[in-house]
Amino acid sequence: MLTGKVAVVTGAGRGIGRAIALKLSKLGASVVINYRSSIKEAQELIDEIKSNGGNAEAVQGDVSSLEDAEKVIKFAVEKFGRLDILVNNAGITKDTLLLRMKEEDFDKVLEVNLKGVFNCTKHASAIMLKQKSGRIINISSVIGLIGNAGQANYAAAKAGIIGFTKSIAKELGGRGITVNAIAPGFISTDMTEVLSDKVKEKLLENVPLRKLGSPEDVANLAGFLASDNASYITGQVINVDGGMVM
Ligand SMILES: NC(=O)c1ccc[n+]([C@@H]2O[C@H](COP(=O)([O-])OP(=O)(O)OC[C@H]3O[C@@H](n4cnc5c(N)ncnc54)[C@H](OP(=O)(O)O)[C@@H]3O)[C@@H](O)[C@H]2O)c1
Repeated sequence: MLTGKVAVVTGAGRGIGRAIALKLSKLGASVVINYRSSIKEAQELIDEIKSNGGNAEAVQGDVSSLEDAEKVIKFAVEKFGRLDILVNNAGITKDTLLLRMKEEDFDKVLEVNLKGVFNCTKHASAIMLKQKSGRIINISSVIGLIGNAGQANYAAAKAGIIGFTKSIAKELGGRGITVNAIAPGFISTDMTEVLSDKVKEKLLENVPLRKLGSPEDVANLAGFLASDNASYITGQVINVDGGMVM
């Protein structure tokens, strides 16, 4: 389905990004794996993709830096000659209640989770505009839709991604570029591993399917949105959350 296409996945060394990179590769895309610090994991992922017969390269870069974002996008074009798919996946949490939240914790989460999406999209869209085609997939969160006590910074960033997604979908639609957001619920990764069993149990009471999702659940939707089958879908926010938000 994605043979001949080139994808960049940010924060792809671990978790959801890793699963998305694997999925896009299995569908035939050449994949650029961006990592910030997980160099070993990124190299292992490349080895796995190559052993499955796919193409992959890794590039270090902090998405909150506009220069690093440019480096990552340029790397993809230098290595593979084009850029068809950008998945803005990199994200962090710095959870605490508002009164305890330090200014730097608010700024850092916004810089990585929201400005990082701007930085990578800005550089990638310039290439996609010339190609008159492209797919941009932004990983938001159900927390950006419903909020969560202790996550004001994260919720603001993820809600910001939704407004950004819709605006850019309107700007780029006329040039054959679709822009959509995925809003995962609770997915089993390092990010949710830190939650206690008690907190997890409480959270699952609000999930009709009564289980955490897997990174592959999110990757399956990303694979679909990247494909030609999704060519008439843009500006949408699609939840992968076991029914948590409806
Ligand atoms: N897990 C969930 O339940 C859930 C739910 C909703 C939304 N999400 C969203 O899904 C995305 C992936 O989350 P995850 O659960 O897979 O988290 P994770 O396991 O903690 O992985 C986060 C990834 O983001 C990368 N990253 C962090 N800061 C970065 C930066 N400045 N520049 C480049 N990469 C950076 C990390 O790279 P390094 O390891 O190299 O630092 C890592 O690969 C995030 O946007 C998250 O907000 C997750």
